[in-house]
Amino acid sequence: MKILVTGGAGFIGSAFVRLLMAETGYQAINLDKLTYAGNLENLVAVEDNARYRFVHGDICDAALVNSLVAESKPDAIVHFAAESHVDRSILSPEPVIRTNLHGTFTLLEAARAHSVPRFVHVSTDEVYGSLAAPAEATEEFPLNPSSPYSASKAGSDLLARSYFVTFKLPVVITRASNNYGPYQFPEKLIPLMIANALEDRPLPVYGDGMQVRDWLYVEDHCRGILAVLRQGREGEIYNIGGNRSLPNLDVVHQLLAATGKPTSLIQYVKDRPGHDRRYALSSEKLMGETGWSPRVDFESGLACTIDWYRSHSEWVARVRSGEYRSYYERNYANRV
Ligand code: NAD
Ligand code: DAU
Repeated sequence: MKILVTGGAGFIGSAFVRLLMAETGYQAINLDKLTYAGNLENLVAVEDNARYRFVHGDICDAALVNSLVAESKPDAIVHFAAESHVDRSILSPEPVIRTNLHGTFTLLEAARAHSVPRFVHVSTDEVYGSLAAPAEATEEFPLNPSSPYSASKAGSDLLARSYFVTFKLPVVITRASNNYGPYQFPEKLIPLMIANALEDRPLPVYGDGMQVRDWLYVEDHCRGILAVLRQGREGEIYNIGGNRSLPNLDVVHQLLAATGKPTSLIQYVKDRPGHDRRYALSSEKLMGETGWSPRVDFESGLACTIDWYRSHSEWVARVRSGEYRSYYERNYANRV
């Protein structure tokens, strides 16, 4: 199998490429624009592997995407590339709309033109929007996105599905919950809080901190995507959840306890506009059809993640320099 992976230099895409190299004999071509979130340091472990190749480029560049698909003839495209952060989508929606919608369209068109046998579109549980307890979204739930990010993901998710319905392109869609683990850019809740706690800096909790998210260890997500790539039925949607719902404040308290830092570091700040209160999803369909289930419980996953950030302080320092500083200032300065 030869897989064209988009966004393979990001957090989840790089974990997927590392998994392909470690546990399959597949070839991987990684097409990535290397935005602020793309980092080739995440792929040092595989860069010399003869089955791996990196292509620097934008998924919105139709000429590039077309020639890459024509020349490489992949057996599948696994599409991760996106602007993935809700707060950034609120500060600057344009790149989010461009990459998540137009980029997905460009890839779908190339897959259609060159009859790619499989297209896995990596979507998110955010497309279901906020759910009142005790509901858990199944794949049939209506889409009800709240932010420019989740609306762009809902749009690309529906566009991918339309290519199956209209053009019979063999599309399969995954919708996963909140990922955490090594190499996550420290703009998202868990890596931001770990990085700040390790430096004794304030931990900015939005609103009352009682928003609920389901937490999925990144390797479990990647194994779920691999299961869908191999066994998922064309035209179907598969939720991938960690089966571990927690209020943000519980997550923050757990990571403070695990890092040995005081709760006085918690700083309640102005809420995120349009903040979804609760996400929850059922992964019964994926478990029933493929035998997949999450392997890593939250406590061990969090401990491994904290260890990784402790031992990769130089990685953290490098990604937190430059552009990160101006983003942090723009996002947090007017919250306190
Ligand atoms: P990330 O922000 O860490 O990585 C995104 C990658 O895409 C980066 O390497 C970036 O350089 C690349 N990219 C961005 N724009 C591009 C473009 N125009 N052309 C080519 N490459 C481009 O994101 P992530 O957290 O790894 O998320 C990956 C995918 O998984 C996204 O589609 C996201 O919506 C989805 N997802 C994420 C989560 C999560 O918790 N992080 C959960 C569910 C689904
Ligand atoms: O649910 C899947 C989604 O999870 C993915 O589709 C997105 O790509 C990914 O970014 C993530 O979105 P969230 O908005 O849920 O993740 P984030 O880490 O930004 O925030 C998690 C929760 O923590 C959310 O309720 C907001 C809160 N939060 C976040 C940050 C960055 C804070 O309280 N303080 C913060 O500083």
